[in-house]
Amino acid sequence: MAAASSHHLSATPSVDCAFNAGQIFGRKLRSSSSVKFSSKQSIKTVRMALKEDGPSVAVVGVTGAVGQEFLKVLKERDFPYRSLKLLASKRSAGKHMTFEGREYLVEELTDDSFGGIDIALFSAGGSISKKFGPLAAAQGTIVVDNSSAFRMDDGVPLVIPEVNPDAMAHIKLGSKNGAIIANPNCSTIICLMATTPLHRHAKVKRMVVSTYQAASGAGAAAMAELEQQTREVLEGKEPTCNIFTQQYAFNLFSHNTKIFPNGYNEEEMKLVKETRKIWNDQDVRVTATCVRVPVMRAHAESINLEFDKPLDEGTAREILKNSNGIVVIDDRAANHFPTPLEVSNKDDVAVGRIRQDASQNGNYGLDIFVCGDQIRKGAALNAVQIAEKLLQE
Ligand SMILES: NC(=O)c1ccc[n+]([C@@H]2O[C@H](COP(=O)([O-])OP(=O)(O)OC[C@H]3O[C@@H](n4cnc5c(N)ncnc54)[C@H](OP(=O)(O)O)[C@@H]3O)[C@@H](O)[C@H]2O)c1
Repeated sequence: MAAASSHHLSATPSVDCAFNAGQIFGRKLRSSSSVKFSSKQSIKTVRMALKEDGPSVAVVGVTGAVGQEFLKVLKERDFPYRSLKLLASKRSAGKHMTFEGREYLVEELTDDSFGGIDIALFSAGGSISKKFGPLAAAQGTIVVDNSSAFRMDDGVPLVIPEVNPDAMAHIKLGSKNGAIIANPNCSTIICLMATTPLHRHAKVKRMVVSTYQAASGAGAAAMAELEQQTREVLEGKEPTCNIFTQQYAFNLFSHNTKIFPNGYNEEEMKLVKETRKIWNDQDVRVTATCVRVPVMRAHAESINLEFDKPLDEGTAREILKNSNGIVVIDDRAANHFPTPLEVSNKDDVAVGRIRQDASQNGNYGLDIFVCGDQIRKGAALNAVQIAEKLLQE
């Protein structure tokens, strides 16, 4: 599997979707760094290709934050397709989208949407996945699902292509056997992209994760709410709280998922359980604290690691520099480390603050700080990479 794509700090190629979620949020935020992303891969000019021998593809939830990113990523990676079906709710049915110079009508998702569809990329929420995922798979479609609906189900591979591609090796495109492949939670993907290369080298025994999660993780409406609240607060008005129950602009709060009886919220437990499944290691000890911060796009995570074998920071830095899908930003002299702005719209996950954990004896502990665009590698890109793997079989 080709790992992370060729993506560079220069502007992301524009997508000719008439309905572009990114446009809702006004001007683009500037990134100030000169860090080169994906220097390990060559940069190619890409054109999405309508190819007779490509799979028929459906995008479910195409009007949402992840759905729009699916289209961008498919185009940038020149993903071959025979036909493309754009699906959303009744509310969006009939909307026009221009993609690759062609006009598409958004269709309402129904029981009949999947006849003849080879690959369906789902991002319309867990309840929609639960209802329509199995229905699509029963009709021979391979579903790549972004929701949490099936992640922990036995028999459903939970895949990060750079980490555990073998988990989906038995699923074959063209076999007429439908299947569901789950995309891990965005925080889990970003965390394991950075930690798996180190885990392979020295085996992680315990991991403590603290997240700083962006509005985009909660979808297009949450991003719009952060922008609206910011304007309202600056104008001295009461901030509108529709998506979140409390003020988000100029504030931060514990992640908005439900709290379990053990005191952890759902997002934190996803990190715990999904890590064990993806690493196929029920003994790895993981604890997490997940926090929403008023950042528009891209999550940050502070990760403390305890290893079974010694691993010094210099070796860790070299391992990460040579890992696919990772860029190291670790300039102590300039106090320059990963930021959400710098990784926004980028494929690579950025790692920095790589340092020996002073609280542990010997070289058995490391601290790292990680940033990743969770709409991209945490959702759409990861799913498209999974679809690309299906093409390679
Ligand atoms: N945002 C992220 O970073 C991220 C990361 C990983 C996973 N995910 C997961 O991806 C999914 C979508 O997230 P998002 O952030 O893209 O949300 P979003 O911006 O709110 O978009 C939701 C999408 O689902 C569609 N939808 C809603 N109800 C539907 C229905 N009854 N039938 C068909 N389509 C329906 C919406 O269509 P309408 O426009 O017609 O309402 C819209 O296209 C969620 O499961 C989320 O947990 C998101």
